[in-house]
Amino acid sequence: MAKKVVLAYSGGLDTSCIIPWLKDKGYETIAVIGDVGQGGDFEKVKEKALKSGATKAYCLNLQKELIEDYAFLALKAGALYEGKYNLACALSRPVIAKHQAEIAIKEKADALAHGCTGKGNDQVRFETTFRLMAPQLEIIAPVRIWEFKTREEEMDYAKKKGVPVAVTKKSPYSIDTNVYGRAIECGILENPWNEPPEDIYALTVSPLKAPNKPTYIELDFVKGLPKKINGKSYGSVEIVKALNEIGGKNGVGRVDMIENRLVGIKSRENYENPAGTILHTALNDLESLVLDRETLHYKPQLSQKYAEMIYYGLWFTPLKEQLDAYFNKVHENTTGTVRLKLYKGNCTVVGRKSPYSRYKEKLATYGKGDVFDQKLAAGFNALWATPFMK
Ligand code: ARG
Repeated sequence: MAKKVVLAYSGGLDTSCIIPWLKDKGYETIAVIGDVGQGGDFEKVKEKALKSGATKAYCLNLQKELIEDYAFLALKAGALYEGKYNLACALSRPVIAKHQAEIAIKEKADALAHGCTGKGNDQVRFETTFRLMAPQLEIIAPVRIWEFKTREEEMDYAKKKGVPVAVTKKSPYSIDTNVYGRAIECGILENPWNEPPEDIYALTVSPLKAPNKPTYIELDFVKGLPKKINGKSYGSVEIVKALNEIGGKNGVGRVDMIENRLVGIKSRENYENPAGTILHTALNDLESLVLDRETLHYKPQLSQKYAEMIYYGLWFTPLKEQLDAYFNKVHENTTGTVRLKLYKGNCTVVGRKSPYSRYKEKLATYGKGDVFDQKLAAGFNALWATPFMK
């Protein structure tokens, strides 16, 4: 009897070729398609998996889970890898891998497979989750070991095996998309000196083509979670989509960076994440209004750690969970409204308010109604320098 393998399937050339390739090695494949908001016709993707030889194909809508149980935790953590990347792709991997492992257990499968290369981060995110969720299962990464050196060789193999081959021209870029953002690499972007051409972008207009008038929005947060835009309530996925739309129209959310991959190499990656940019900017500002100084200065150290853990595929680990408890505590009072101005690629906070504000105008003012006792400052100043005086 053939052994059973559960494959994370995208419908692309690689994962389609993996199905007959695994068959040659004595496995029957169950394809799992994760709808994380990449778009496309999932009925067609399922059909393609079956035509390529899969015995079964699951399609799971994981958008809500991705946003509520992963992306919003990362948002509350203020997690931006190397200070810039909102981790959209990195967050989607444990979601897909977890469901894949669950299906493998339900289907009594023998193995789990993914279509990642040996050079990227995604292999680590998949495999770490597999090993933590279903350690008894074999893990197969065909792309790391198979004989095909080029796309042409894969195409020939696909044709030979009856795998449907797309007639559309392949994009010169490697693109990964979900509701929380989009990543673009390869092609001419591999030279870090080359400016990203306009044709890499899909969610954002060029700031040059953005409206000449700013767009103002008011974002309401409750305990660190976004709830309303301009007074109107939204569901979690809906608010992200709406912010992608508003931000994208104003050219907000483009990131061009050289990042450090887990496997040791540097890579040039471009991102588009209008919603993530608006949300991080707004929440960060609300935090500065409601959190005390020590928390505000301490939290970013843990934000950096948390971002690294997501990037490194360590979602389902004890420290990550402990950090969530910390960030939840931090966000007990981040309830309030942030007013933002979106204009030609910029996202600027122009106002903030909260019932939990620690800002005391009576103490801060240089105008009327000042209650700050300036006489106390003399003693404060005298003592402050004491530890450093010889
Ligand atoms: N560098 C990002 C990460 O490791 C994105 C990976 C996928 N990027 C791509 N363009 N296919 O999370």
